[in-house]
Amino acid sequence: MKTPVYMDNHATTRVDPRVVEAMVPFFTDVYGNPGSTSHVFGWDAAEAVDAARQSIAAAIGAEAKEIVFTSGATESNNLALRGLAERTRRKGSHIVSIATEHKAILDPLTKLGRRGFEVTLLDVEQAGNPRAGWLDPQRLGEAIRDDTLLATVMLANNEIGVIQPLAEIASICRSRGVPLHCDATQAVGRIPVDVAALDVDLMSFSAHKFYGPKGIGALYVRRRPVVRLEAQIEGGGQERGLRSGTLNPPGIIGMAKALELSVAEMPQESQRLRALRERLYNGLRAIPDVMLNGPALDDPALRVPGNLNCSFLGVDGEALMMSMRDLAVSSGSACTSANPEPSHVLRALGLSDDQTRASLRFGLGRFNTEEEVDFAINLLTDTVARLRKLSSTAR
Ligand SMILES: Cc1ncc(COP(=O)(O)O)c(C=O)c1O
Repeated sequence: MKTPVYMDNHATTRVDPRVVEAMVPFFTDVYGNPGSTSHVFGWDAAEAVDAARQSIAAAIGAEAKEIVFTSGATESNNLALRGLAERTRRKGSHIVSIATEHKAILDPLTKLGRRGFEVTLLDVEQAGNPRAGWLDPQRLGEAIRDDTLLATVMLANNEIGVIQPLAEIASICRSRGVPLHCDATQAVGRIPVDVAALDVDLMSFSAHKFYGPKGIGALYVRRRPVVRLEAQIEGGGQERGLRSGTLNPPGIIGMAKALELSVAEMPQESQRLRALRERLYNGLRAIPDVMLNGPALDDPALRVPGNLNCSFLGVDGEALMMSMRDLAVSSGSACTSANPEPSHVLRALGLSDDQTRASLRFGLGRFNTEEEVDFAINLLTDTVARLRKLSSTAR
């Protein structure tokens, strides 16, 4: 086993070597601009992009023309929210979402709020409930008003892995004539996602969450009934005018290959990840005062397979992480310069600041092994005990 061990697959994933192999020719041989219509270099690149678009669309139950390539889910979310709000403003100014969305939803919503839109952020089920983090669709139904122009609800949460009942939410939105956007970044490639079955109008996803490259993502934009958006990046008119800029063939081909592999391997892989997670949790729960955050682990419909989030009470998650240089996880107190706040997701579940700060998020993925899980359990058992001892002698 090689150290450090990577268990932060919600942040990003290693690019699968099979994906790298598929991408390489598009740097070196087929390097034309797919927008060049006058020569074979452009035609070859355009042909490969078309095939990749077709394959990505098929993997999520969409049509090729409904896929808009972007630089990733942050851009897709911005295009969906701002693009729709700007285009349909005259219909109303109210937007509904949930408190546990990713910052790539919450920040654009805050900005829209400053521009006169009214944003309602719904509460989710609280800690202690086996469905902690879950949105009761009825709550959404009650929040929709005559002037609601958009609802946006994520499919799977990036911290606690909870899966929202999108199909039920969509049916409420459809019956009230409200378009629905879904940030499916943590779901696509991990659980089955079909835009027709979910009946969403807009959906964001990103290749680097499913063993594809960073810097490439897509927005699904429904054509029947059509959803109209205002472009946020203008220029050469690529992507039917919705997202200008030269396309990224290596990224697009890599994204298609990565999604193809993830979908093909999903049935066995999700079972394997669930078993690894159970092993990890069983090991960690033997440590005194460990609390599971998020929904129950035993219902596959409620939580993505590789996600685990625990609080090690009395220990600071950041200090814990820093004491385990050989294990890459992430903490609920993520004191990065971009976000000095304790996790808004855990706080939305009703956790105290101390419980939030004591949390670690584990994201198990394709390249993790049982041996690595056992290593993580032993390391955490020792480190938590050592830090608790230190803080009790300091008192
Ligand atoms: C739920 C969710 N939405 C959006 C993003 C942003 O994706 P990207 O890195 O592709 O911009 C992430 C990535 O962390 C995410 O987990």
